[in-house]
Amino acid sequence: MFLFRLREACLVALIAPGCAPVAESAESASPSGPTSAEPETPGPPTPYDVPSCPSGHFCVDAPKEKPDPGAPEFPECATTATPPTGLEDVGPWISFDPGLTKTTRATDADACCYEWFRPCPGGRPYRETAESSPQLAPRVPRTDWASGALRLAPDAEKAAWWADQAAAEHASVAAFSRLTLQLLALGAPPELLELVQVAGMDEIRHARDLWALAAAYGRTEGPGRLPLLTIVEVSPVVLAIETLRDGCLGEGAAALMISESAACVADPSVKAILEAIAEDELNHARLSWAILRWLVDVDSEVLSALNEECERMARELPPVLAPPAAEIMPLERQQLLKRRVFEAIVRPGVGALVGEA
Ligand SMILES: [Fe+2]
Ligand SMILES: [Fe+2]
Repeated sequence: MFLFRLREACLVALIAPGCAPVAESAESASPSGPTSAEPETPGPPTPYDVPSCPSGHFCVDAPKEKPDPGAPEFPECATTATPPTGLEDVGPWISFDPGLTKTTRATDADACCYEWFRPCPGGRPYRETAESSPQLAPRVPRTDWASGALRLAPDAEKAAWWADQAAAEHASVAAFSRLTLQLLALGAPPELLELVQVAGMDEIRHARDLWALAAAYGRTEGPGRLPLLTIVEVSPVVLAIETLRDGCLGEGAAALMISESAACVADPSVKAILEAIAEDELNHARLSWAILRWLVDVDSEVLSALNEECERMARELPPVLAPPAAEIMPLERQQLLKRRVFEAIVRPGVGALVGEA
């Protein structure tokens, strides 16, 4: 009961945003501290940090001078690299990919390969394991996913942003289908399965609404064929870790981000759509806590695994300085929102689960 009250209080407190002024949002700043919007701590990019929307790989030639530090498995490769044209913004989210480097060296002896991603808490990620890259359907020209008839002034940047978010929401439909299979495999109670089905239906509506928003800004598209993924491993511990990352943290941050976007748009129809999505994402985060509560009773090892995961999150979610909220949410602000949800909800929530046990 305490856990429920704690989460509700924190969630309600967090989901009450305005379109934040700069001074409020730069909450980590101090008179002597950093003054730009750059992360206070660069923070090692890891696949775990943020559920991502777009992701991919690129390879470059090994630098002529041996880097310091070099990648552990391939010391002649730097741990990061300059991304190719069009990916300039992913600099903080590049990590060395030893597997791809090894494969590529069969045909290119100097190759150093890297994985990149753009943080995007817009939907529950669809991926094979918690460490895998999230999968999205390719975008194709089609009109049937753009529901509604919004009228907005064309804006290419906003259209691209909302199309990205719509694609993430579309993949979340599959993420909840995957979650259904995992819960069934673990013998979950019917109440949880009902809520997961409702959440999957929510995600279809989110995808349609956001593709409609993208279309209203001038970009009409929809999903192509989504890759089918296998479920590699199902256990209470594995599902608990995924649920903490993708649901409690990821969808909690998604609720906050969409809510902030809603506060930053003037059009009342758009505001209403975004506020409704934020409320749904809040419910999805609540559902994740209910799943965790059940998993704690299923397997005594779940609690210690959650504790360890919580410690890892504390290390890997760096405190950041961030620009204010905007309809198109800057990456640093997405990170900031994630950190806020972690501090206000995830860490005390896991602590309360441990206290209840
Ligand atoms: Fe969603
Ligand atoms: Fe969601």
